[in-house]
Amino acid sequence: MAGGPPGPTFDLGPLAGPLIVFGGPLGNIDALDALLTEARALGVAPQNMICTGDVAAYCADPAPCVATLREARIRVVMGNCEQSLAEDGEDCGCDFIAGSTCDALADAWYQYTRARMTPQDRAWMAALPRRLNFTMGDVRIAVIHGGGCKINRYLFAGDRHALAEEMATLGAEMVIAGHSGLPFTTDIGGGLWHNPGALGLPANDGTPRVWYALITAAAGEITIAQRPLDYDYRAQARKMRAAGLPEAYAQTIESGLWPDTALLPEAQARATGQALRPLTVAWRAANFVGP
Ligand SMILES: [Fe+2]
Repeated sequence: MAGGPPGPTFDLGPLAGPLIVFGGPLGNIDALDALLTEARALGVAPQNMICTGDVAAYCADPAPCVATLREARIRVVMGNCEQSLAEDGEDCGCDFIAGSTCDALADAWYQYTRARMTPQDRAWMAALPRRLNFTMGDVRIAVIHGGGCKINRYLFAGDRHALAEEMATLGAEMVIAGHSGLPFTTDIGGGLWHNPGALGLPANDGTPRVWYALITAAAGEITIAQRPLDYDYRAQARKMRAAGLPEAYAQTIESGLWPDTALLPEAQARATGQALRPLTVAWRAANFVGP
């Protein structure tokens, strides 16, 4: 069900920073509430926050996550979970590898989430854009979920050829995407691909922290700070167990380790359990300054 032609695009025009971008809350209201608290502390208003999709999945509080984003009017691009839930589809459309642990567990969390969506929630999801465009410091930026044409395409830091192809197709100088769950920022030769990671699940780095990014622009240069977020992960794990959701993901919330790494390229799979460090990248077209 996931995939298909690109859906509607919304143009936001020029945005002044700072901007918070974040991946799917995945039904984890404790992480989403912590991010909103962090945003207030940083002086970032909800209209300067963008989510890369997959609002409701895996965790115990899908409806509160939808309500919070809707009430705050935070901008969201459609993830494959929203695409499936909007249609009241039978599966999440994550495109897990057949026979993998994640594939085996998907029906349990998806049906839990599906049962908690109201017609209004589904209508909100159906109206989400597949792509957001904006400019920052004259740089053309596109926000999508997975790939430009395939909403559930998994792309990782080392997929340079695929990232370059996607960026050329999208016609943007910088792309912000989600879906794959790991934060990274990759210069692909004149363009920059950024994934802020997932907000609702940790980054398979052996810590319960989740990740988001703070983006600022000054003097034609864009700075992306990949930042960890501590939150009350024990509360979320308790709720997941009380709800009868898969124990493997409750353990993931606590341990920071994914149930399986079948989807990960070799380098990312090898990095399992290695604590990620905050990263700040300053970039301007054709002049990337990395760590
Ligand atoms: Fe996704």
